[in-house]
Amino acid sequence: MIRSVDEITNGRRMRRNRRFEWNRRLMRENTLSTNDLIWPIFLIEGENHCEPVKSMPGVERFTVDKAVEAAKRAFDLGIPALATFPNVSLDKRDETGSEVLNPDGLINQATRAIKAAVPGIGIITDVALDPFTESGHDGILRDDIIINDETVEQICKAAIIQADAGADIVSASEMMDGRIGAIRDALSGAGYSDIGIIAYSAKYASAFYGPYREAVGTDQMLKGDKRTYFMDPGNSDEALHEAALDVAEGADMIMVKPGMPYLDILRRVKDEFQMPTLVYQVSGEYSMIMAGVEKGFLDKERAMLESLLCFKRAGADAILTYFAPEAAEILNRQKNAGSTMET
Ligand code: PBG
Repeated sequence: MIRSVDEITNGRRMRRNRRFEWNRRLMRENTLSTNDLIWPIFLIEGENHCEPVKSMPGVERFTVDKAVEAAKRAFDLGIPALATFPNVSLDKRDETGSEVLNPDGLINQATRAIKAAVPGIGIITDVALDPFTESGHDGILRDDIIINDETVEQICKAAIIQADAGADIVSASEMMDGRIGAIRDALSGAGYSDIGIIAYSAKYASAFYGPYREAVGTDQMLKGDKRTYFMDPGNSDEALHEAALDVAEGADMIMVKPGMPYLDILRRVKDEFQMPTLVYQVSGEYSMIMAGVEKGFLDKERAMLESLLCFKRAGADAILTYFAPEAAEILNRQKNAGSTMET
C-alpha cells in the first residue's frame, strides 16, 4: 500500500518551522556575532605601508602604524581581539629564532603601539619560532631534528617579553611537548599570573597553511615538513589527549586548527572539556573560498558567513578568521537593519 505523506510522518512536517524568515530566526540554534571574531593580522617592517599577500586576495601585511589603523577599525567594528603574526627580513632569521627575544621586535612594537592607541582591544601574540628561524620551523632544528626542550626554553622567554610589551594573551602554536606548563611557570615567575595562554592543542600537519607561509615569508625556507610535531590528520582521539595535557598544564583556552576540515575534532574537544574553545579558519580555507569567489563559483558573503556560523554550531566559542573585518561589517549592517544572518 502506498501511504500518504501525512501517514508516513504522522502529521509531523518539519518544513512548518522553516516557512518564514521570522520563523527561521526563532528556531535558529546557533548564531554568529562580532563577539565571536578574532582577526589575525600580518606585520611587516617599515612605515605607512600595506603589502598584499598574493595567495590571500584581500589580505595585506601592515607596517606597525597601519596595524594601529587596522586595530582602530577592528575596535570600531566590535571585534574583541587581534592576533599578530610577523614577517621579518631574512637577515633576522637564524637557527634558534633569536629575533623572537628582541623586545623591540616587530610583534612587540606592534603590541605597544596598538595598546597605546586602542587600549580596549585584546592583543594575542604567538610565541612560535617559525617567523624567525632560518629553517621555517616552529622549533629549533639541529641535525634534522626539532629540539623540543630547548625550543620550550626559548618560547618561555618569548612569552615573558611579549607580556612585557603588553600582550593580553600569549598563544603557543608550535606543538612542543610540555610548553603550556612551562609558559605558565615562566609567566607566573615574572609576575604575569593574569596573562592568558591559548594552547593550539590540536594543530594538524595540514596543507591548508600554504598561504600563511607566503604571508610570513616561510614558504621558500621551510625545510621538509612539520609532521614530527603537528598532528596527523588521520587522528582524532589524539586531539583529546593533547587538549587534556594542555588543560592540565594551565591553558586558559584551547584551539583546533585548521577549522573546516576538522569540525568533528572541534565538537569532540568542546564536548569533552567544556573549555573556552577556539577554532582557526586558516589561510588555505580563506584562500579556497576567495578563489571560488573570484572564479564566480561562490557567493562571497554567503560562503563566508556560513563557514563561520558552522564553527559555532560545531562548538567554537571564538573564531580566528581573516574574514573578521568583512564579516563584522556585514553582521553590524544586519543588526542595524534588524535583519538576520540570512544573506
Ligand atoms: C606556525 C603557524 C602556522 C599558522 C600560524 N602559525 C602554521 C604553519 O606555518 O605551519 C597557520 C595559519 C594559517 O594558515 O592561517 N606557528
